[in-house]
Amino acid sequence: MANTKAQDFFADPRLKEAKKLIQDALKEHQTKLTGVKEANPELKESYANLLKQIGEYRGGALFYNYLGSGIGNGPLVELADGSVKYDFITGIGVHYMGHSHPGVINATIDGAVSNTVMNGHLQQNTDTARLLELLSKEACRYGAEVKNVFLTTSGAMANENAFKIMLQKRMPANRMFAFEKCFAGRTLGMAWVTDKAAYRVGIPKTIDVDYIPFYCDGDHEGSIRLAVSAMKKAITRYPGMHAGFCMELIQGENGSWVGNKEYFEALINVCRENNISVFFDEVQSFARTNKLFTFQYFGLDKYADVVAIGKNSQVCATFFKDDHKPKPGLMSQTFTGASSQISASLYIINEIVNGGLLGEGGKIERLHKRFKTNLEAISKKHPEKLCGPYGIGGMVAISVYKGDEAKTKAFTFKLFENGVLSFMAGGHPTARVRFLLPVMVTEEKHIDDVCAIIETTLSEME
Ligand SMILES: Cc1ncc(COP(=O)(O)O)c(C=O)c1O
Repeated sequence: MANTKAQDFFADPRLKEAKKLIQDALKEHQTKLTGVKEANPELKESYANLLKQIGEYRGGALFYNYLGSGIGNGPLVELADGSVKYDFITGIGVHYMGHSHPGVINATIDGAVSNTVMNGHLQQNTDTARLLELLSKEACRYGAEVKNVFLTTSGAMANENAFKIMLQKRMPANRMFAFEKCFAGRTLGMAWVTDKAAYRVGIPKTIDVDYIPFYCDGDHEGSIRLAVSAMKKAITRYPGMHAGFCMELIQGENGSWVGNKEYFEALINVCRENNISVFFDEVQSFARTNKLFTFQYFGLDKYADVVAIGKNSQVCATFFKDDHKPKPGLMSQTFTGASSQISASLYIINEIVNGGLLGEGGKIERLHKRFKTNLEAISKKHPEKLCGPYGIGGMVAISVYKGDEAKTKAFTFKLFENGVLSFMAGGHPTARVRFLLPVMVTEEKHIDDVCAIIETTLSEME
């Protein structure tokens, strides 16, 4: 078969040599980052000025005083003040491969030297075809039928597309089910799905949602009874008006609350009896359990009508079954993703699938076990200060000071100061501190280091 000029270019030995030079230089510099380090006093003033400037331009200060320098080493990241921290929140679940990962950098170079910065619906390169094939194959690996994949640039947009698909399929039904305390994104539509009033102040109502209580670990039967009854009540009140159920199977923004197969199945049965589409929002939980997709972890493959992923996948996507195919005109976008993003996504997902992370006894389970053991030991020593951990796989959360919101926030800031990036989740009275691990590059010794810093931080909090 004849080569295209692009194939010749990408196979040019000079490209390989250039990448090797970059990798050599990177290695030389990044390997100097070996652990947590305080800021360089000489950079203090310029850093403070930069932070002030960015706060002014973006119309509000950053949550943490975090401005990356542009280099890192695995789970360690250097900030522009010369400090080095453990990144255990990864941009809220994005940097699965940590910082300055050689393979990711190679993949982004491949994208960067291709002809355009962005790919879009009118112009896509061959990497997109390969990514769609990979995503579709993996989503359907255990029997799901969501073989159609639509790429997009944010989790909120992936969810918007999912909602459009369900609403069009079930029109004129125009209501939705979602779980209490769910988070679905920040668009006008998703702000009204997210169950947090503060996130939609001043935003006119875009969609009617009936909220169903999420699974409660301590009350299996009661959870099912309560949730099924809430669904049936809403259906009786609005017969035939529910288009879909947006299910976040592990609640991320609320603090890594894990659902249950039997509980989900009970709700899905009600969906099936009432022609309500089942949508799994995996924007945060994708690649965090011992299966690539969370619906696969719970064994809900046969029920998936629509699925959304994002964050770890770098490029976001909405999957749907043939019988949910939207009519022409419903969905399109200028951008599907940057060329580097698409190339990195292909690399990262292949690494996750083939890198020993998934499955029983895989790295995800191994890391979770170590983190859990260490945190439980701290909790045993300081039961009044730390409870938990909660969560699953690469999604871990703890509760500090009995979930007090102000103290939890103060703890995350102190932890940041001491060299570990985490984030708040949930709200009063169940605020939590959560961690979204850079799974690919985290080792047990990193977890031990982070736990030692957590313990020190607790002791310094008074
Ligand atoms: C479950 C869930 N859905 C949707 C979103 C929105 O994704 P994005 O911030 O990329 O728009 C998030 C983001 O945190 C999420 O956790």
